[in-house]
Order: sequence, then C-alpha cells, then structure tokens
Amino acid sequence: MREIESIVVLTGAGISAESGLPTFRGAGGVWEHYRVEDVASPQAFARDPQLVHRFYNSRRQKLLSANIKPNSAHLALAAFESAFDGEFLVVTQNIDNLHEQAGSENIVHMHGELLKKRCQQCLQVTFVYEDINTSDGCERCGKQGTLRPHVVWFGEMPLEMDHIHQALEKCDLFISVGTSGNVYPAAGFVDIANMWNSHSVEINLEPSAIESSFKEKIYGPAASMLPKFLTQLQTKTTVG
Ligand code: OAD
Repeated sequence: MREIESIVVLTGAGISAESGLPTFRGAGGVWEHYRVEDVASPQAFARDPQLVHRFYNSRRQKLLSANIKPNSAHLALAAFESAFDGEFLVVTQNIDNLHEQAGSENIVHMHGELLKKRCQQCLQVTFVYEDINTSDGCERCGKQGTLRPHVVWFGEMPLEMDHIHQALEKCDLFISVGTSGNVYPAAGFVDIANMWNSHSVEINLEPSAIESSFKEKIYGPAASMLPKFLTQLQTKTTVG
C-alpha cells in the first residue's frame, strides 16, 4: 500500500466526448473524415497550409461555440484538485480548453492548445480566438504567413516532457481517462508509472490498446465513471 501524496491524470479525447467534441479514432472520429498526413504533420503544413488552417479553424470555431462546455468529468477533476492536499497534475493530450474552463490549475497540454498560435519566425505564442489565415502577419515580428496553430503534429516532440516525467516518477497514483492508448509517448506513461510502483487505473469507454498495463480498470462513460471514482478516492489515504 502507498500513501497517496502525488497523482498524475492523463486525459484524452474521450473525456471531452460527452461535451460534444469528437474523438479521433472509431466511428464518427476526426480521422474518419481527414487523413492525419494531410492535416496534422509539418509536411502537410508546408504542402497545403490553407487546408491545415481550415482544419484547425473549424475545430477552434466548434470549441468556441456556446454549446461546448466542460462535463462532469472535467468538473470532478478540478474539484478534486482544489480539495487535495498533495501534488496533482493533469496531463492532457487534448488541445481544447475544457479542463481550464472547469477550473483545473496544474495542467500540461502535451499536444498544444487550439486557442494559441505560434509564429514560426520569432516563436511568439499568443492566444487566438479567430481563424488563422496564410495572409496573416505576426504582431511581433511583422512577418506574413508564419503563423501556425500552437499544436503538436505527428513527427514533432510533445511539449513539457521533462515536467511530465518528473511527475510520473514520483506519483503514487496514475489515472488514464478517455484515451485509446495508440499514440506514444502518452501511451507509455502507464509503464513509467508502473516502473516506479505507482497504482495505475484506466477509466475508458472500452479497454484501450494498452489495458493490460493497468492494475485497475473501470469501463463506461467518463462523465459518470470519473466523478464516482474520485468521490471514492476522497475517502482513501492509500492505494495499491
Ligand atoms: P482516441 O480517439 O484515439 O481515443 C479516445 C478514447 O476515448 C477511445 O478509447 C474511446 O473508447 C474513449 N471514449 C469515447 N467516448 C468516451 C467517453 N464518453 N468516456 C470515456 N471514454 C470515451 O483519442 P486519444 O487517445 O486522445 O494527437 O488520441 C490521442 C492522440 O491521437 C490525440 O491527442 C491526437 C490524435 O491523433 C494529435 O493530433 C497529435
């Protein structure tokens, strides 16, 4: 048994599904309508920046529409964090801002953020709530056509990996929510946590590609399963 002093929660598209944002894989997923290599790689952006901008512009518009709100899974995580005495880090693969809207504070967006843009010339990162176009100029360096979404594409290094590894190496509990376990390095986080003898829990609609790595598994919709799990966790001081 281990005292619960440090918790890392990895989230994926499944946690935002009940807020109305589509997941990537499976029926109705984003990758059913687009090919990764056409819209989510540096090569795609070099080849057809307008197509890549259209893809992210439409996802940004959807995220900003009035009906997209955090659901009870996002809200339960934020409430747990504010009541928890120890260290608590949310590592999300999601580029939406629903964790922040729910009130999460200690959060890493390892695949970047849809509501930020980056200038490829001067590297300035700023918030963006409108469409980005190839004709736009950077407010800082004045260059035209250098702005891109501040997201991580396939073939690029995810953000804040040192920070994530430090948290994984000392966490007592690792919880994975709403991710299919198909994309590394995130899919390997459970093995790092296991290596340090953490308790690991998968909460997902269905067994993920890496379900055998988890010590505890809970299957069902995140918006009901995660609040239930966190309510029970509040009464515990040890795991394992
Ligand atoms: P996926 O679309 O691969 O997987 C989503 C998972 O959530 C699936 O296992 C679903 O069964 C599950 N799920 C769906 N609805 C759920 C619900 N209501 N409650 C709980 N689970 C639910 O999405 P990710 O694993 O997040 O990367 O994908 C990882 C990365 O691949 C993304 O960050 C993105 C993508 O390509 C980049 O774009 C770099």
